[in-house]
Amino acid sequence: MPYVNTKTLLDKANKENYGIPALNINNLEFLQSIIDAGKEEKSPVIIETSEGAIKYAGSGDAQRGARIFVDMVRAYADSVDIPVSLHLDHGKTFVIIMAAIKAGYGSVMIDASEHPFEENLEKTRRIVEIAHSVGVSVEAELGQLVGIEDNVDVKEEEATLVDPEEARQFVDESDVDFLAPAIGTSHGAFKFKGEARLDFDRLRAVKDSTGIPLVLHGASSVPDEIVKLAEEHGADFKGAKGVPSEILKQTVQFGINKVNTDTDLRMAFIAGLRETLAETPAEFDPRKYFKKPKEYVKNLIRERMRILGCSGKA
Ligand code: G3H
Ligand code: 13P
Ligand code: ZN
Repeated sequence: MPYVNTKTLLDKANKENYGIPALNINNLEFLQSIIDAGKEEKSPVIIETSEGAIKYAGSGDAQRGARIFVDMVRAYADSVDIPVSLHLDHGKTFVIIMAAIKAGYGSVMIDASEHPFEENLEKTRRIVEIAHSVGVSVEAELGQLVGIEDNVDVKEEEATLVDPEEARQFVDESDVDFLAPAIGTSHGAFKFKGEARLDFDRLRAVKDSTGIPLVLHGASSVPDEIVKLAEEHGADFKGAKGVPSEILKQTVQFGINKVNTDTDLRMAFIAGLRETLAETPAEFDPRKYFKKPKEYVKNLIRERMRILGCSGKA
């Protein structure tokens, strides 16, 4: 099936009220696991790369990195009968956003959420005008996540949740396609010190006031069994805590359609890799020692697709 624009996938998810995981990659192996999971679940697939991933793939050259990801993802999309899209996650740099658009990404995020409302709106408008002129869709963020957003430290006390009235104005005036409202998640493996809790009322109000596909950042669950497995083989993830599956399901009920997930894939991969290295100390062929990590990543994604309701929606 074709390589598609993310908007096609998210408009359908919004209409039919399900979520699709948007899965971060840095290399070939994670892409393979994601495509296999999508095939087995008959689910649409959204791949995303951060600016850091693009620089990594291009050895510092963003144009090259963006082209590598488009070529890789397109080659896989052409070979499967599920729709696959490629999205730029947390675009903050004009040059990298342009590199992604030029290379053929189907959607980009302009993340100007650390700026005051008017500045965020202005920066978003500028990207929307350029991206829409070449058929690329755009995500923006309102409010700030607690924690670290692509190398910018956001102190806990400065964290602000989205204002639903501002969300309406922002969407009307920017013509953005998808909105990420801050409702209490954070990036990484250490999301909550106490009980996991998100602001559902705020989420519902943003959905009512905008009606467009909404995005949950920092959506990893950090499953206990993965943490345990990794720790049995030498990892130290003390205090790791994510968004429980039940809560993820509820966010979808209240209007989330794109569920950004990176940490869980990294955790599943490292658990499988640690296990393999411990069990087969003589192995040095990457195609063999990546087998179990890839399997764990695929299984985690399959389960997530079922939880979010996108299995069978391809
Ligand atoms: O939201 C951030 C993603 O997890 C990407 O993180 O900048 O380490 O690639 P990264
Ligand atoms: P996690 O760190 O919870 O996987 O969040 C990833 C994310 O929001 C990417 O944009
Ligand atoms: Zn994010």
